[in-house]
Parts: sequence; structure tokens; C-alpha cells
Amino acid sequence: MTTAAQAMAQAAARLRAAGVDDPARDARVLLAHAARIEAARVTLIAPEELSPEIAERYEQLIALRAVRVPVSHLLGEREFYGRRFKVSGDVLDPRPETETLIEAALAQPFERVLDLGVGSGCILVTLLAERDATTGLGVDLSEAACLQASANAVMHRVQARAQILQSDWFAQVNGRFDLIVSNPPYIALDEMPGLSDEVRRHEPEMALTDGGDGLGAYRTISAGALTHLAPGGRLIVEIGPTQAAQVCEILSQAGLKRLQVVPDLDGRDRVIVAYSP
Ligand SMILES: C[S@@+](CC[C@H](N)C(=O)[O-])C[C@H]1O[C@@H](n2cnc3c(N)ncnc32)[C@H](O)[C@@H]1O
Repeated sequence: MTTAAQAMAQAAARLRAAGVDDPARDARVLLAHAARIEAARVTLIAPEELSPEIAERYEQLIALRAVRVPVSHLLGEREFYGRRFKVSGDVLDPRPETETLIEAALAQPFERVLDLGVGSGCILVTLLAERDATTGLGVDLSEAACLQASANAVMHRVQARAQILQSDWFAQVNGRFDLIVSNPPYIALDEMPGLSDEVRRHEPEMALTDGGDGLGAYRTISAGALTHLAPGGRLIVEIGPTQAAQVCEILSQAGLKRLQVVPDLDGRDRVIVAYSP
């Protein structure tokens, strides 16, 4: 007989050998998923024998995790700012550091928000869910991402206030917004080989890199910002931790004012807030 605790220990050893970062946590979370219980309840079933169905599901999940399929893809969801978002290989996994952008956006009132590169919808849906009276537009070049964002808008009941559109940045966007947010692809092409297998092999390339120096999206977004922001409106972009000086330069060249660099919880430069004159 194999108990849940033994199965978990064996799975963790297998994941460790495969180079997975936190094998014990993943073995636990995936056992909960296989057993269809909350992760916090795994301790309760630890002494029990695993049923053949659960053992088989667990074996499959561990085999996939061992080839570095991200846990979020195996669960089909990821938590962001206290809500669960449906995710898949078609969209970037919502990252905890993007919550810094959410905090910056919520720090001041807004009525109408544009999210450039909406992906899973985690930013747009969170902002609309946190502020009842707001409406928003999310755009993405990826049709699959647009579908995923729409599904997440429905899941969090903001679909009546959220419009999702396939667009190359501002190309299909009309009107002005008092808040524009974006977490664009900001990894330089030559940094891509340094990413973990989970990211490089399982997340969409167009969500990660602009195929150049990592600053291309900021150039395009800043060039269109003043014609799409209401007077005094805010632009908030996420950045890579080494990009603050270069992105500030791009934004101020484009006429944006009162630039402020905001660090994430690890103290790394993460977000820039700028204003239309
Ligand atoms: C870093 S991901 C961010 C996704 C999501 N907003 C988040 O914060 O998790 C960047 C997103 O920009 C989208 N994107 C890339 N190039 C684009 C373009 N030219 N026009 C619109 N969206 C684009 C990608 O498809 C991807 O969904």
C-alpha cells in the first residue's frame, strides 16, 4: 500500500531530480489537485492510502511537471490580487510583481481604463472588479489571449464593463482614457536563453519579448499615449528591474510628465507612473 504521504515524498524526489525549484510545494499542490481537495487539507489525507484513480491522476501530473510544465497550466488557474484567473499556454501567467502596478493604479480614482497587452486579463479584470463604477478596454495582438481575457472577465462578473479587442497596441483603439496601463513584453531577445524552462518553453514568446532590445513596446506605447490619454490622465507601465532610466527617458521624450518609479515588494524598480500634461 502507498499512502498519500509516501506518494508525495516520491513525487518530490522525482521533481527535485528534474530540477524543479520547489519540489515539495509542487508535489503537495498537485496531490491536492489530483485528489480534488484544497491544498490546506493534504495533511488530513497524508496517512491514507491513495485510491487508484487519484494515484493515476497524480502520476500524470507529476510526469508533466517533471518535464517542466508550469503548475498553473496543470491546475488551469493562478491566483492574482486575491482572485483566481484561468490560464493556459496562450497567455503569460499573472505574476505577483504585477500586483505593484495594480496598487499604483488603485492609488488614485479613474473612470475609464485601457489595458494594452491584456493577456489573461488579470490587470483589467482586477481593476474593474476593485472599482465598481469603472469601465475598460483591453487589447491584445493575440486572439487566444483576447478569448482568455474575455473568459476571465465573465468569471469575475465584470464582462458588462469590459470590452476586449484584438489590436496591435493602439491600432484599433478610439477615444481617450483617464488611465492607461500596460505590462508589455520587456525581455530583450538575447536574454531569452537565460529564462527557466517553464517560462521559455511554456509561455508565449510574444508575451515575453519584443524580439529586440526589450524597449520596443515602450516606444510604441509612449508614442500613442498623449493622443489616447485625457488631459492629466495617467499612464502606468510595468518594467524590468534594470529598465527604469531608459523607459523614463522614452516617456519624457514623448511628452509625458511627473514621472515616478515605483519599486515592487522586493525593492526592485517595477512600475513607472507618468501623466499627460
Ligand atoms: C507581459 S504579457 C502581459 C499580460 C497581462 N497583461 C499580464 O500582466 O499578465 C504582454 C502581452 O502583450 C501582448 N502583446 C505583444 N505584442 C503586442 C502588440 N503588438 N499589440 C498588442 N498586444 C501585444 C502579448 O500577447 C501579451 O499578452
